[in-house]
Amino acid sequence: MCDFGQPHRHPSTSLGAGDRENFGFLVDVPQVRALVEATRRLTIEIPDTPARVTALRPAFAQLLAANDWLPPEYGEPDLKSGMGGGIGQYALYRAEDGSLCLFSLVIPPGAQTPIHDHLAWGLIGVYRGVQDETVYRRTDDGSDESRASLEITRQQTVRRGEFYTLLPPLDDIHFVKTVSDTPSISIHLLANDTACVTRHRFDATSGIVTPFRSGYSNAKCRDTET
Ligand SMILES: [Fe+2]
Repeated sequence: MCDFGQPHRHPSTSLGAGDRENFGFLVDVPQVRALVEATRRLTIEIPDTPARVTALRPAFAQLLAANDWLPPEYGEPDLKSGMGGGIGQYALYRAEDGSLCLFSLVIPPGAQTPIHDHLAWGLIGVYRGVQDETVYRRTDDGSDESRASLEITRQQTVRRGEFYTLLPPLDDIHFVKTVSDTPSISIHLLANDTACVTRHRFDATSGIVTPFRSGYSNAKCRDTET
């Protein structure tokens, strides 16, 4: 695991010894707790996922608008990135049961992610810098796990404080690129343990689909040394 400076961790005491460094509030600040607690509450209160995500928008906007809560080392590129391109992916909160995570994604100027999916509902917004997002939909029936046919459905520029929702299969396949001259930092609230689940990279030209796990830059997946 990479060492990114001083710990900001005060995870729940209910976690087992092996999980204390990797789960819970890896960044334990009131702004992160407020969003996670709002998500937990609304998950109980609103079973309908689109309605729940809509209800979460004010709490998510509040985190994006707040300043000085993200430790500087979680806003830096990661040259050993599992995403490639120096892209850093830093866990800020991880539910021990894999039902929710909050992480920052740091993309250097000019760099971009592969085309990828997320496999969970969520909210993604820009905290610093500017990103271009290109969204795809599958035009095949999804029956062949190794191949996909994609077409672009939307391209948008996302600036500081702006955000969008994921409601798979709608809008779940995209890539993002930093178009500012400083690294972009986006904040992701997703209903899985995103970096540790097996997701997919897509080659839009060849149609090849490749399983991958990005891993976190600052925390381990449970069953690997990622
Ligand atoms: Fe993404």
